[in-house]
Amino acid sequence: MSPLVASLVEKIKTRRARTGVVGLGYVGLPLAVELAKAGFRTTGIDLDPRKIEAINAGQSYIPDVATADVRSLQQAGKLDATTDFSVVKDLDTINICVPTPLRKTKDPDMSYIVSAVESIAEHLHPGLLISLESTTYPGTTDEVVQPLLEAKGLKAGTDFFLAFSPERVDPGNATFHTRNVPKVVGGLTPDCLELASALYGAAVDTIVPVSSTRVAEMVKLLENTFRAVNIGLVNELALMCDRMNIDVWEVVEAAKTKPFGFMAFYPGPGLGGHCIPIDPFYLSWKAKQSGFDPRFIELAGHINGSMPHYVVEKVADALNTKRKSINGSNILIAGIAYKRDIDDMRESPALDVMGLLDAKGANVSFVDPYVAEVHGREWSGKRDVKGVEAGRGTFGRYDCIVIVTDHKTFDYDAMVAEADLIVDTRNAIRKPAPHVFRLGAPRPETHGERVATV
Ligand SMILES: NC(=O)c1ccc[n+]([C@@H]2O[C@H](COP(=O)([O-])OP(=O)(O)OC[C@H]3O[C@@H](n4cnc5c(N)ncnc54)[C@H](O)[C@@H]3O)[C@@H](O)[C@H]2O)c1
Repeated sequence: MSPLVASLVEKIKTRRARTGVVGLGYVGLPLAVELAKAGFRTTGIDLDPRKIEAINAGQSYIPDVATADVRSLQQAGKLDATTDFSVVKDLDTINICVPTPLRKTKDPDMSYIVSAVESIAEHLHPGLLISLESTTYPGTTDEVVQPLLEAKGLKAGTDFFLAFSPERVDPGNATFHTRNVPKVVGGLTPDCLELASALYGAAVDTIVPVSSTRVAEMVKLLENTFRAVNIGLVNELALMCDRMNIDVWEVVEAAKTKPFGFMAFYPGPGLGGHCIPIDPFYLSWKAKQSGFDPRFIELAGHINGSMPHYVVEKVADALNTKRKSINGSNILIAGIAYKRDIDDMRESPALDVMGLLDAKGANVSFVDPYVAEVHGREWSGKRDVKGVEAGRGTFGRYDCIVIVTDHKTFDYDAMVAEADLIVDTRNAIRKPAPHVFRLGAPRPETHGERVATV
């Protein structure tokens, strides 16, 4: 073991290592807090001054991270934050958690990774361990990150150390957090793997070492592609069930009683969030560069992407039973975040449903206890829309309510009692009612009857 490696292992063991996290969002802040809780003096770096101010004032802005934790760590001198990358010269380790979105053309947008790595490279010093956590295509660490860091002459694996470890955070999950989700780690060299495993081992219960950064990158893409493809399959089943007058929700509930060889996935209005709609396309882009055509990813993307259109068709069907059209109807979208009980609306299918209904002339409003406003840049309607206060006594104001995200706090009993029509894309309303149209289920008037299919 080289003296540089031995010294960093020792610093990590004794918690004298100074740790840094670049990108303090849904992934980076929980990780920074976990490293600080493990005993490291941790510095977060982000370009957003509001996040820096919040952390340095002892406040959390991520629902899964308690302000009490941020405050006590900040007051104990274990956690601070800055926009200034020159702090890198004082750090021993850096985890990079910056965004990896897609361009409009569905090509990877590597600009955040490149910019963060270039900023780190300016202050790179011997002995520094850098671990990339952003979800990305296999090859990013050695093809993109390594050359940028080596540009000034220091050599990865000898002078500084490089690893990839995919983040698996599940926002809103009350059981699994950064600490108790096993962490897959791949190093550029055995020394890189050893150092990264030592760092993560201090803050995460279980480490899963793999043979290379490319394997670690691919693991994350397998996990998220697995979800995208299975959701695509069950969404297609929902479309089939709709045509065949079968209740897809009942089918999945019964199928999941099989104790082996089946895993339940549920249909819905489309994919949302920063991961599942995006990550598979990172893989597909890279696979195409190797002349491989990834068919499952494209097909699942096609089916999942069509779901908001299907929801709008359901709304038209529902209104049709009242001799109404989408054009001119008052429609309330219930739930704009991409999943239940969280505030994140990135890639949310609710924004697509809202845009499609708006384009057909509906007067669209939304209610979401976690989202106050949709800005014009976030949806195709291009105007700012504030959420309405909707609860008992107000649901009767709308021609149709579309449940896009089934937040637990919605008063579904009041919705059923007061609403004229409901389109339920999440099976939030379990009891059949004559005015409730569920995605992937028989139309209310034919519920339980066999009807001829066309
Ligand atoms: N959110 C999730 O559930 C989740 C789960 C697993 C993996 N991931 C992956 O983790 C990565 C980060 O996702 P996130 O949800 O935390 O994103 P986020 O948008 O919540 O946070 C990213 C942060 O990085 C900052 N940033 C951007 N460029 C920067 C730069 N050059 N220097 C410093 N800071 C910079 C942004 O200001 C922002 O605060 C992505 O690759 C994502 O795919 C996300």
